[in-house]
Amino acid sequence: MTDRLYIFDTTLRDGEQVPGCQLNTVEKIQVAKALEQLGVDVIEAGFPISSPGDFNSVVEISKAVTWPTICALTRAVQKDIDVAADALKYAKHKRIHTGIGTSDSHIKYKFNSTREEIIERAVAAVKYARKYVDDVEFYAEDAGRTENEYLAQVIEAVIAAGATVVNIPDTTGYCLPWEYGAKIKYLKEHVSNIDKAIISTHCHNDLGMATANTISGVMNGARQVEVTINGIGERAGNTAMEEIAMIIKCHQTVPVITNINTTKIYPTSRMVSSLMNMPVQPNKAVVGKNAFAHSSGIHQDGVLKNVQTYEIMNPKDVGIDENSIVLTARSGRAALKHRLSVLGQEIDGEKLDKIYEAFLRLADKKKELNDDDILMLAGANQSETHHIKLDALQVTSGRGIQPIAALKVNIAGEIFEAAASGNGPVDAAIKALKKIVQRQMTLKEFTIQAITQGSDDVGKVHMQVEYDGHVYYGFGADTDIVSASVEAYIDCINKFKH
Ligand code: KIV
Ligand code: ZN
Repeated sequence: MTDRLYIFDTTLRDGEQVPGCQLNTVEKIQVAKALEQLGVDVIEAGFPISSPGDFNSVVEISKAVTWPTICALTRAVQKDIDVAADALKYAKHKRIHTGIGTSDSHIKYKFNSTREEIIERAVAAVKYARKYVDDVEFYAEDAGRTENEYLAQVIEAVIAAGATVVNIPDTTGYCLPWEYGAKIKYLKEHVSNIDKAIISTHCHNDLGMATANTISGVMNGARQVEVTINGIGERAGNTAMEEIAMIIKCHQTVPVITNINTTKIYPTSRMVSSLMNMPVQPNKAVVGKNAFAHSSGIHQDGVLKNVQTYEIMNPKDVGIDENSIVLTARSGRAALKHRLSVLGQEIDGEKLDKIYEAFLRLADKKKELNDDDILMLAGANQSETHHIKLDALQVTSGRGIQPIAALKVNIAGEIFEAAASGNGPVDAAIKALKKIVQRQMTLKEFTIQAITQGSDDVGKVHMQVEYDGHVYYGFGADTDIVSASVEAYIDCINKFKH
């Protein structure tokens, strides 16, 4: 019989650690529900002791989700475990994920401790967590660089203490695939009680080997994989869920099955990218815009004769609907609601009305609205809660003339006006804005991206603005790129702590 591989999704914990990609609780619930529909087994919903926001998200996700196990991260510290247990109180199936660094560099530099003491702390944490829940996962942080013999001692001790899952993270993304696989094999062969726990992989992508290492772990006996949607995560990210699911579907030689409904992969990928304002690179495996686009003549010819000549998977299997309806200004509210639902967003009532109004305004400027436009509109209405809003903007620019911008900004209901010149239209508009909002702010990063392809397209702008020692991330979208830039700057200002 083929073994079951458990999918542990950490998009909302390790994935959410990406600077500037933080979600609020409502958005996290939306992602958690999409993950449930996708068929993941475990959702790591947060690190409750790290902030009240994370605590609250774990509570609310626990209430909102039925089937997957909800997991909360802790350090090997009693207070962390107490808080995690409290955050998980509404979860139908719950897991505490506790652990400690086991590599010599973690033991020496992070903990100023000894190998023996680390085992004691690990065992104590697992025993303490077992007082609250039956399902305790232990992580040996930096296991990728931990000597195998010592790692086996740690793992044997935590299983004896009650760990039900043992996580072997390649925290720094350093391992080679054969090395990581050999580590899992070593544990299978040298940990006497290993049959009492599931081995989990947790691979980072610093050298581009996260997926290869994960598969190598599975081939050597791991039966849980820790992944994120689109491979998002700190630095170069984590193992991409969609890659693992499709490798298993395409290769019968990987002897496991998952519960993933692969047709939900693409909508979930789009939703996460849109909510986190984190574009998916066009050549990203499985979910990138070009993943199924054949542009060379030889390939196109082959695909037309028989699709199998150059395609190893069917785009429909990952939920890419090539005949997806394009919405226009004549599309009704019901068509918009349906499309949002296909994209994983169940929206109704007043919120739908607002999105529909924005949809009609955009459809007036742009003939056809695609999925990215619709997801952008669904995510954009948070600006309504903003204290500072852009009311009007006029820009004069062109070759051989000095660009000038005039704008009106609404601050808590009062309108302020200013004008300025600059070395470009965006520079002029931001200088005018700074005349109104007089703070010592510095633009650190500015990225413009067209959502699809036409000249009538919506441009997305991401900005980082430094103020009072902190960096704030802002986002704006508009068919007018100067307006989108000012919106992004204002989005940053609205996030200033004072
Ligand atoms: O990468 C890592 O080691 C982790 C652990 C906290 C599981 O994310
Ligand atoms: Zn990690």
